[in-house]
Amino acid sequence: MTGRPRYPIAVLVSGSGSNLQSILDAAAGTDFPAEVVVVISDRPGVRALQRAAAAGVPGVVVAWGDSHDRDAFTLAVCDVAAARGAEGLILAGFMRILAPSALGRFPNRIINIHPALLPSFPGAHGVAEAIAHGVKLSGVTVHFVDAEVDHGPIILQESVPVRPDDSEQTLHARIQQVEHRVYPEVVAAFAAGRLRIAGRHVHWEGT
Ligand code: GRF
Repeated sequence: MTGRPRYPIAVLVSGSGSNLQSILDAAAGTDFPAEVVVVISDRPGVRALQRAAAAGVPGVVVAWGDSHDRDAFTLAVCDVAAARGAEGLILAGFMRILAPSALGRFPNRIINIHPALLPSFPGAHGVAEAIAHGVKLSGVTVHFVDAEVDHGPIILQESVPVRPDDSEQTLHARIQQVEHRVYPEVVAAFAAGRLRIAGRHVHWEGT
């Protein structure tokens, strides 16, 4: 261990949690500057919660249906994250939209990953829509979250070629290979304080 305190993050999930796994695997290394202090799921019984348990990280369900509206749901999610000491929120396949109050609780400290090259194909069906549109390149976008869906300042993008015979599943699988490599890199840079936001631009500082 380096002995330096690690930046505490909450990872928000809804399903498989393969991106969560990539972050947990990286965080198991001695030099990773972030620690996953809690995994929050809006659904019970998902594989992501099993992954958290296997890594010894607390998993908490904040069920969407238990809140009467988006504001109450957001408050509950932020309260759980804050109670566990998280200073940043990492969205990894989290299929709910947080209310703007989350931005006040975690200003410039919420990050999302999206399986397309934003601003193309935002929303929940980015992979299928890229194929339907006939684009030759899609890819991965990691961005800070702002008040609009899949819109905030872009931290990193990497392209993935679309093959003529791609299905949503085959393209998404290749996109996820990239996601699993780049998301821990972004989380590390964020946790180390190396990402500086200037308007819509994000600058990576240091090496
Ligand atoms: C990822 O492809 C991510 O880009 C999108 O949802 C998917 C989540 O996959 N937001 P997983 O739960 O991390 O396996």
